[in-house]
Amino acid sequence: MKTPTLPTLACGDEAAMPLLLKRGERFLEPDVYRTCLDGQPAVVKDYTRYRGTPLSLLARVLVRREARMLNRLSGWKHAPALLGTIGGLALGMEFIPGQTLSSAQMVGNEVFEQLQQALDRLHSAGITHNDLHGTNVVVSAGVPVLLDFTSAWRTPRWLRRNPISRQLSRSDLKNLVKMRQRLTGQRPSDALAARVADPGWVAAVRQGWKRFYRWAKQR
Ligand SMILES: Nc1ncnc2c1ncn2[C@@H]1O[C@H](COP(=O)(O)OP(=O)(O)O)[C@@H](O)[C@H]1O
Ligand SMILES: [Mg+2]
Repeated sequence: MKTPTLPTLACGDEAAMPLLLKRGERFLEPDVYRTCLDGQPAVVKDYTRYRGTPLSLLARVLVRREARMLNRLSGWKHAPALLGTIGGLALGMEFIPGQTLSSAQMVGNEVFEQLQQALDRLHSAGITHNDLHGTNVVVSAGVPVLLDFTSAWRTPRWLRRNPISRQLSRSDLKNLVKMRQRLTGQRPSDALAARVADPGWVAAVRQGWKRFYRWAKQR
């Protein structure tokens, strides 16, 4: 799928003074800044510091993947609109005004109801977010908007019932339950708790990994 290439920046003073939202410090993390693209407030995820390095190839893949995912979700109120890619190493999207769930002081239950419906919708389209936490959700005028689709994954229809996809969906939902409990104090209903409970094979793999890790650390 082709994503649109951005036209030149045009937003007067704001474009001249982009506001840094997050500096990319860890491996393959982009600089994220707020700016103005094509006359509208925008966010750019910028990997250009990798230009000319062997990692630029991977950075391009991350930009392409996130752009494709946003393109796929275009028109959905729970994801920012894609504005386009810039030179292969940066991605522009609609700026969502509001507060992230990690910085919000008061978040009502209705936000989490909407978030759960949004997540169910995403999962029924075969997409898992895979990095659902407070800084990747902005609440804008009472509507939760998912950000950061870098790790999102779309499973083809014929593979959707496989155990790994189901585990990824379960993990998304589990993260939502944790955020909800932390921010509203509300525990999941019995039905939801059953939906997020790990099946035996996952618990066994986790337990095995912990044992292996402890054993390896003692060597
Ligand atoms: N479209 C957006 N609108 C508003 N804020 C955003 C947007 N995209 C990112 N941000 C802000 O920038 C931060 C980092 O962006 P994110 O996409 O999560 O990058 P990273 O992959 O480095 O975690 C987010 O936690 C959020 O605060
Ligand atoms: Mg993030």
